[in-house]
Amino acid sequence: MSSTYTQRHPPHTGTPSREESLATYERLAPEYAGPAHATTRALERLSIEAYRHAQPLARAARDRPDVLELGAGAGALTALLLPEQARGRLLVTDPAPGMLARLRPLLVEHERVDLRQATADVALQEGGGDADVVIAGLADPFLTPELLRTALARLHQDSVLFVTVPSRSWALAEREGRLHIPLESTRFRLLDGTELRATSWTYDEDELEKLCADCGFLPIEAGTCTDDSPAGGEEPAAEVAWVLAKPRVAGV
Ligand SMILES: C[S@@+](CC[C@H](N)C(=O)[O-])C[C@H]1O[C@@H](n2cnc3c(N)ncnc32)[C@H](O)[C@@H]1O
Repeated sequence: MSSTYTQRHPPHTGTPSREESLATYERLAPEYAGPAHATTRALERLSIEAYRHAQPLARAARDRPDVLELGAGAGALTALLLPEQARGRLLVTDPAPGMLARLRPLLVEHERVDLRQATADVALQEGGGDADVVIAGLADPFLTPELLRTALARLHQDSVLFVTVPSRSWALAEREGRLHIPLESTRFRLLDGTELRATSWTYDEDELEKLCADCGFLPIEAGTCTDDSPAGGEEPAAEVAWVLAKPRVAGV
């Protein structure tokens, strides 16, 4: 384990608790997919772009079809997974009931798809052992070394893991530079003006690869997607890092 990660985990003071983060996403759910949350939309577009770049992932999903999605939110990546889910099963998970309510209409026509309320660690413990592909788009609320070690223990030797997160470089400029909030937290302003916070672990591409390697995964492919037409003003261009990895050693 590198010193970078031991310094950053567990959260330092000022970082929202797990409970606060879960409550934030639940309150945010009804308006999560709306245009008012422009930064989230920009990160989501980049996360989708990253998924499309990860060609080996598409092959893995076709060849070994049981897929587990963690923290599916309003379904930005779920919508891309559904057409690929011709043969296997897709288990879509999120801890926020409000997000599940947004996901349900997306899934009604699809027989091989299940929806379950679960945090990422519980989803991996309960469903991870069967998964050939684990997907977590914008996994910043929960992507810690502990979570990756849980994934390693549960996945089989041929599973692949695909993760996207906001880049740490972007978070430094946006949070510390512009918003003056802790690096490991994000802030949402609801339509009624209420401000909510959630934990957000961000990594640059090399850090994400190192995190995976430190936790027993072998990175297959990694990348960075940067918004090439940012809104302008003082806001830094949104950026997402991603990795596709597989267990380096056998799980249990
Ligand atoms: C930034 S959103 C990403 C949603 C979606 N995957 C996407 O790519 O747009 C993060 C999601 O993680 C969920 N979440 C928060 N804490 C979590 C946890 N401990 N385990 C799993 N999901 C969590 C939230 O409810 C939210 O839906």
